Amino acid sequence: MDMIQAMKERHMVRKYTEEKIPKDLVDKLNARIKMNNDKHGLSIKLVLNDGDALSDEVNLVLSKNVNNFFVMAGRPGDDEKCGYAGADLMIYAQSIGLNTWWVGGQYNHKRAQKEAEGAVPVGIIAVGFGETQGRPHDSKSASEVSSYEGTAPKWFEDGIEAALLAPTAKAAQAFTIEGQGTRVHINCDNGVFSAVDTGIIRYHFELGANGASFEWI
Ligand SMILES: Cc1cc2nc3c(=O)[nH]c(=O)nc-3n(C[C@H](O)[C@H](O)[C@H](O)COP(=O)(O)O)c2cc1C
Repeated sequence: MDMIQAMKERHMVRKYTEEKIPKDLVDKLNARIKMNNDKHGLSIKLVLNDGDALSDEVNLVLSKNVNNFFVMAGRPGDDEKCGYAGADLMIYAQSIGLNTWWVGGQYNHKRAQKEAEGAVPVGIIAVGFGETQGRPHDSKSASEVSSYEGTAPKWFEDGIEAALLAPTAKAAQAFTIEGQGTRVHINCDNGVFSAVDTGIIRYHFELGANGASFEWI
């Protein structure tokens, strides 16, 4: 499945089957992690067959069989880069038949810190075979989150449509995107998750804009 289709089909999945991720898919995930770590200077890591990813309250009530997870970590201040790389990993995982769940608050901070080996974790992403495929989140409309000076070109409209598919902390979609000519500006105010959300949304906008040439300002 291509990345744009995978972006449309990705939804939060908190309950997984017991099926282990086969080696060929593990190899693909690790190659994608390496690509992101090299590109952004991050320290993302995949932990497998280990049920210690979440904080107790979310583990007992909301989730099932969260046994594999990416530790999203980088240097201090790398939150936006982690968001951008995490969006790539979630959509890539979807494209190879897996499901995901970004957990930025209710994860096992001690465990993630240990796995990050000195880097700074901003959250974990659960990954595995979902019991279901999840469902689309309730969404704001394009006009609520965006504006364009003059008539918006197709790439901008497609970018906004994609940005609205992005996972955001507490499903807040607390962002606005403004366009003028080939310049695009994003503003996001979602408390401690603002920078991570910004990275995730930027990745989605770029994927939706599908190679159009524009610049972030
Ligand atoms: C930065 C960030 C932090 C999140 N933290 C949590 C969390 O602590 N607990 C949780 O259950 N979900 C968490 N989520 C998942 C969101 O609630 C979920 O992505 C959102 O409701 C949108 O749904 P979707 O992923 O299906 O698009 C987080 C998502 C993001 C992007």
